[in-house]
Amino acid sequence: MMLAAESYDGKDERLEEFLTEFREVHGAPEFLIRVPGRVNLIGEHIDYCGYAVHPMAIEQDVLVCLKRTESGLELFNKNDSLYPSFKLDIFENLEISTDKIQWWSYFLCGLKGVLEEKKISKPAGLKVYISGRIPPSAGLSSSSALVVSAAITALSGNGITMNKTELASLCARAERFIGTQGGGMDQAIEILAKAGQAKLIEFNPLQSYDVQLPVGAVFVVANSLQEKNKAASNEFNSRVVECRLAAKILAKRLIPTNGKFRGLRDVQTATNQSHEQMLEHVEAILDKQVFTRADVLEQLSITDQFLRDEILTNDTENMENFKLKQRARHVYSESARVYKFRDICHSAGDGALRSLGELMNFSHSSCRDDYECSAPSLDKLVEASLSLGAYGSRLTGAGWGGCTVSLVPSDSVSDFMSGLKTTYYKGREDLENVVFQTKPGAGAQLWKL
Ligand code: GLA
Repeated sequence: MMLAAESYDGKDERLEEFLTEFREVHGAPEFLIRVPGRVNLIGEHIDYCGYAVHPMAIEQDVLVCLKRTESGLELFNKNDSLYPSFKLDIFENLEISTDKIQWWSYFLCGLKGVLEEKKISKPAGLKVYISGRIPPSAGLSSSSALVVSAAITALSGNGITMNKTELASLCARAERFIGTQGGGMDQAIEILAKAGQAKLIEFNPLQSYDVQLPVGAVFVVANSLQEKNKAASNEFNSRVVECRLAAKILAKRLIPTNGKFRGLRDVQTATNQSHEQMLEHVEAILDKQVFTRADVLEQLSITDQFLRDEILTNDTENMENFKLKQRARHVYSESARVYKFRDICHSAGDGALRSLGELMNFSHSSCRDDYECSAPSLDKLVEASLSLGAYGSRLTGAGWGGCTVSLVPSDSVSDFMSGLKTTYYKGREDLENVVFQTKPGAGAQLWKL
């Protein structure tokens, strides 16, 4: 399906206010773009291994409006005390520094992605105004919303239309200019989401399927208030490379021809084994608690140079220890949970909510114990949520901080939220955007003004 520009009816007060702010300073805008954040219900840290995930879009979003100019880029943020304006004279050879990441670095990723992949030789100049209300560094993908809104800015500004699936894949590749080797979940859900539906999203090739959540399924997002910027440390990429190494060692042992296997899913597909069988192989083959660098070189019969050049990333090139068994165990077990979650939603039988909650709880323990991407604050919030009656609760997004998502009985949502306010958030005011109930929202929208 194409990302087509809708005609604008001017009926939404919030959008009108935003456009008026632009008009008053810069004149008439030509396009308006809205991109939501997302919450992942289950399927954490498995998209970059090739596995399906189960997110939904949230209501919190990024708004962008723009007009074309003679040349270059002028970028203004409504919250300019925190996010200062940025100016770029020419788009050619756009370099994105991975050392000094600024808020606009993500915007440049989206622009660069479109300009390079669509080979736009004479890009239109752009004056762009942005306002965001997705909590930053909270695991709700505010950064991908910036990348996606920039890509749509570049497309609309240069008169190009694109298929939504192609755009999602382009944005996933573009966000890697920032140096983090993420998968494609965030960009895909932010573009493909449909109001009222969660999505099962598969990769290679990218496909998405609507999933109707069972009646009575209410999800509450709660911010641990511990910020985590995944591009500012190497924790995220270290997990990515541990998964790559685990896949290579499993492939070497299980697949005699041992072709070029990048991901844990490739190994499962090539061996045609169930998730349970893959978990048995993990225990038998990745049989150490910690693999040292020397262990890895020996297992794969490769040189240190090869490891550095072909497998590790710039920010992980000095890693000495790798927890391959634990990471692979998380990935295969989490992938199985994603499909179970989808099946329970589809059958929506008695006890469905309780069963979904259990899967979420297993997911959280696996993230905490095997993937080590939780944080004490998140564990505390999960515990508080369960003791307040949630069916299930887990960290959402990359982790190491950010938000939890809890499945809460619909008749006790307000008690649940006030319970969190008097326990985890005791003494804090203004929790409106910190703990909130959410329902599946719409994906990216573009309006021609
Ligand atoms: C980040 C990445 C996603 C995904 C999640 C963890 O949000 O951008 O691709 O890997 O972390 O599930």
